Amino acid sequence: MLIGVDLVDINRIQKAIERTPRFLERVFTPAEREYCLCKTNPYPSLAVRFAAKEAVRKLGKEYSKGIRFHDIEIKNDEEGRPYILLHGLAWQRSQENRITIDVSLSHSRNQAIATVIATRGVFK
Ligand SMILES: CC(C)(COP(=O)(O)OP(=O)(O)OC[C@H]1O[C@@H](n2cnc3c(N)ncnc32)[C@H](O)[C@@H]1OP(=O)(O)O)[C@@H](O)C(=O)NCCC(=O)NCCS
Repeated sequence: MLIGVDLVDINRIQKAIERTPRFLERVFTPAEREYCLCKTNPYPSLAVRFAAKEAVRKLGKEYSKGIRFHDIEIKNDEEGRPYILLHGLAWQRSQENRITIDVSLSHSRNQAIATVIATRGVFK
């Protein structure tokens, strides 16, 4: 089992998006943008998804090398519980290594945190 965690300053993400609007499209998938941008304040949800993508990178270079932001997509089930949908190279590596990645998200006014756990041999 491997664990990755990342803590993000929401204000820093908001400034990055305001300064570089392309940041939104580069980092977040269309579905992630749609989910976050319909909220009154989208920044906590955007920041926590950024944190989740960074947390996946912390699973190790072996797993995350060459993986793009869009390869790691954060979705929510009908109860609001987040889960990770992998694409491209990330999906390929998870298949090869029989890895399942679970995620938990939390955000306050200023900070957003994401934890991911990769489990080997548990295949969904
Ligand atoms: C689930 C719940 C406890 C989250 O509390 P919260 O303090 O608002 O959550 P945080 O601010 O720490 O984190 C927000 C993130 O929690 C995640 N989340 C939402 N519902 C969730 C759920 N049912 N399970 C796990 N995570 C959940 C989401 O990813 C959310 O971020 P997002 O909206 O950007 O995707 C709250 O939404 C709740 O009470 N829901 C209704 C009842 C319920 O389902 N309770 C769970 C069993 S006790």
